[in-house]
Amino acid sequence: MITLTMNPALDLTLHLAGPAKTGALNRSVSSSVTHGGKGTNFSLALLSAGVPSAAVALLGGAAGERFRAMHEERGLKITAVPISAETRTNVKVIDGDGVCTEYNQTVTVTESELDDVIAVLDALVATGEHKIMHMAGSLPAGAPKSFYRTLCERYGDRVACIVDADGEALKAAVAAKIPPVLLKPNKAELEGLVGRPLTNESVVEAAREVRAATGGRASVIVTLGENGAVFVGANGGGTVRVSAVKVPVVRGFTAAGDTFLATFVARVLRDNGGEGAVVPARGLQVRGDAGASAAMRAAARAAAEKVALEGSEIPANISLDI
Ligand SMILES: Nc1ncnc2c1ncn2[C@@H]1O[C@H](COP(=O)(O)OP(=O)(O)OP(=O)(O)O)[C@@H](O)[C@H]1O
Ligand SMILES: [Mg+2]
Repeated sequence: MITLTMNPALDLTLHLAGPAKTGALNRSVSSSVTHGGKGTNFSLALLSAGVPSAAVALLGGAAGERFRAMHEERGLKITAVPISAETRTNVKVIDGDGVCTEYNQTVTVTESELDDVIAVLDALVATGEHKIMHMAGSLPAGAPKSFYRTLCERYGDRVACIVDADGEALKAAVAAKIPPVLLKPNKAELEGLVGRPLTNESVVEAAREVRAATGGRASVIVTLGENGAVFVGANGGGTVRVSAVKVPVVRGFTAAGDTFLATFVARVLRDNGGEGAVVPARGLQVRGDAGASAAMRAAARAAAEKVALEGSEIPANISLDI
């Protein structure tokens, strides 16, 4: 499996003792740096479930090196596409009352760096070893909003594409001539896609609309945070709802969606002969409602283990059994 992280970042979290003051100096009482990359978090969760992947990420400067080292420590080797800009450091300030304010950096990539991404992906796809490509997260400045769509159309005949994106990038991917086989919006992302507010019930109808927009080809998983998730199967497949697993102390939401999706995919592959058995034109083969339900339950349990962990820490030894 290939995973792509176009806009990785280091996340610097500063904890303040009291309220945050704008226009004044705020001193932290503690701080930490974690890795923030959607595809790389997905790869870490896959690895934890025993599934290897080729993690491609655009990386630059000292922050990029640190990002790479943090993953190597966790056993994930990253295939870096070097960029001239320094990898982002995003800042999260959590004040004494627990109020969180985020400041995100913008990185701009050049056209030739985007060509380098394509060249790396071309080479990986050409090996024939990979039957799935996962693309997730925001796009850096300089990349067209149609970038994921372009990748689906370029590679979709040889690899089954999974898209976990937001806004225009997601909208464009849904309209690809070879559409993704699996989409994983959360509720807010789905609301953006269908252009109306949704409830935990009406997400089903909205997910079916999105499936229809792909000619029925995409399965859609809508994650609903503490309210669980819904799966709508491709090609008129069934609908399966799963509840979230109760967590005594919630510590970090980051990468909950990535852990959910990775566990779902790992379980579906295990039930269907592994990645080698995937036929991209047939999409991700989920064995009916029972197959979807088993994968969704394993995913909800792993995601619950994740939210019990700090920051973007991914649970160790994710189990696919239920
Ligand atoms: N408070 C919670 N308690 C238990 N499980 C949770 C909680 N929040 C999230 N989860 C689990 O994690 C899954 C994914 O969460 P969510 O919908 O927040 O994903 P997301 O917004 O895509 O996250 P991200 O993009 O940061 O990875 C949920 O479907 C649920 O199973
Ligand atoms: Mg998400």
